Amino acid sequence: MVVKIKSIGILGMDTFDVTVETDISRGIPSFDIVGLPDASIKESRDRVRSAVRNGGFEFPTKKIVINLAPADVKKFGSIYDFPILVSILVANGIINKDLNDCAFIGEISLAGDVRPINGVLPMAIQAKQSGIKNFLVPKENASEGAVIEGINIIPVDNINEAVDFLNGRVKISPAKPAKPNTNIPNFDIDFSDVKGQMSAKRALEIAACGGHNILLIGSPGSGKSMLAKRLPTILPNMTFDEMIETTKIHSVAGILEKDSPLISQRPFRSPHHTVSSAGLSGGGTIPKPGEISLAHNGVLFLDELPEFHKNVMEAMRQPLEDGQITISRVSASLTYPCSIMLIAAMNPCPCGYFGHPTKKCTCTRKNVLAYLSKISGPLLDRIDLHIEVPPVGFKDLSSIKKSETSAEIKKRVDAVREIQNERFKNTGIKCNARITSAFLAEMCPMSDDAKSALQKVFDILGLSGRAYDKILKVSRTIADMDNKEVIQQEHIYEAVQYRSLDKKYWQT
Ligand SMILES: Nc1ncnc2c1ncn2[C@@H]1O[C@H](COP(=O)(O)OP(=O)(O)OP(=O)(O)O)[C@@H](O)[C@H]1O
Ligand SMILES: [Mg+2]
Repeated sequence: MVVKIKSIGILGMDTFDVTVETDISRGIPSFDIVGLPDASIKESRDRVRSAVRNGGFEFPTKKIVINLAPADVKKFGSIYDFPILVSILVANGIINKDLNDCAFIGEISLAGDVRPINGVLPMAIQAKQSGIKNFLVPKENASEGAVIEGINIIPVDNINEAVDFLNGRVKISPAKPAKPNTNIPNFDIDFSDVKGQMSAKRALEIAACGGHNILLIGSPGSGKSMLAKRLPTILPNMTFDEMIETTKIHSVAGILEKDSPLISQRPFRSPHHTVSSAGLSGGGTIPKPGEISLAHNGVLFLDELPEFHKNVMEAMRQPLEDGQITISRVSASLTYPCSIMLIAAMNPCPCGYFGHPTKKCTCTRKNVLAYLSKISGPLLDRIDLHIEVPPVGFKDLSSIKKSETSAEIKKRVDAVREIQNERFKNTGIKCNARITSAFLAEMCPMSDDAKSALQKVFDILGLSGRAYDKILKVSRTIADMDNKEVIQQEHIYEAVQYRSLDKKYWQT
């Protein structure tokens, strides 16, 4: 007799149904697993055998063949221990219930405990789509699975408990759905902490309104890191779909916190400049998401940009554009989403004072150029707003006047995002920064003045095609902030001003 038990497979973010088929027949005792398993699945045999015995059950001394169907898809990890064990217990007559509407996932310890795994949230979504009613998962992962409604996520601690539950001897209540935290996030930092810096604040507000990438350049202590860290406090709240998308990535990476299984605040990831290429882009034998994907729907902050390894910076070029990253390894080629806002901060030279109004820069011309050239032209081109953060004056610093709070700025950002939501209905586009070239002309109408202004600037500055697109998108955001449907000349001029710093620093 062949026993069939349902499970769910996962490769990166892609999930698929798996059926664990078990055939126990007479013959020389053996235990084989087929169906493209990797080494860790082969080790399942030892874990399952010990767990069955340590659970007080008899392990069949017969010829056992397990097939993980579909047999042509590679399967990794120890996640199939639990369904394999259940299928053996069913074949052995220890579990005697119809399990057609159940699916199982989890690693099993030698003692029979069901141990936590990564990726339960995307698996729960798949299980629900496949019509599964009860999804038995490791207890530690239950809260993240319960984010999905319409499927019972049954938390299981050990195999004895699972057997009693399946045979109807004990009841296990499904995990309670986690309520998203839709309250306005509570930050312990606020824009009102930053004195002066009005033009930098304006640029950050534009970036937040349109989801644009931004680079802050300035001397040490001018408040760049301080400003960047306050960006999340003015970003719009996440939608439920965005929460699920981001949580799925964190689930696959195995970094979800048990107490807050649903990520309801936009992620703010700030990897140190020593981060490796794999750490930023994703990697490993079976590639896991990197910082850029963990920041999906949120902010990636690269402080001290020139200190990052060149290959790390360059690896970001394509994903910044596409909003997704593909990592290829021998074992698999996986794609993770990474729709992010990039915010980078840097000094203009090694000593930090190049272009400073009062302090003298001690670097040689060559050193300055070598420092700046660490940021390649193509990467710079992908950053929509370049702004200078000048040193704060004593007058600003000592002023007791409270500046605008994050809540006040956020209110305006929310209103501008509302205009964009209306504009992008049914297009799949989320914000101005992500307008595709197909929609660019239609969504960014310009007045005649604006058109000729842009043309003039294009000729004088010798802009790239990409810079042209970026200026247009930033102008779109500035026009939205001004509540204007048609982009006016002044919107173009302001947007251009945020692209002229590369002239001052990089091409002097
Ligand atoms: N505009 C400002 N308002 C209030 N405090 C400020 C301001 N700018 C700087 N500071 C103070 O200076 C400290 C250093 O600022 P910050 O770390 O943001 O500088 P930075 O520009 O990132 O410098 P570096 O280039 O050395 O990284 C802040 O923690 C804050 O106490
Ligand atoms: Mg800093």
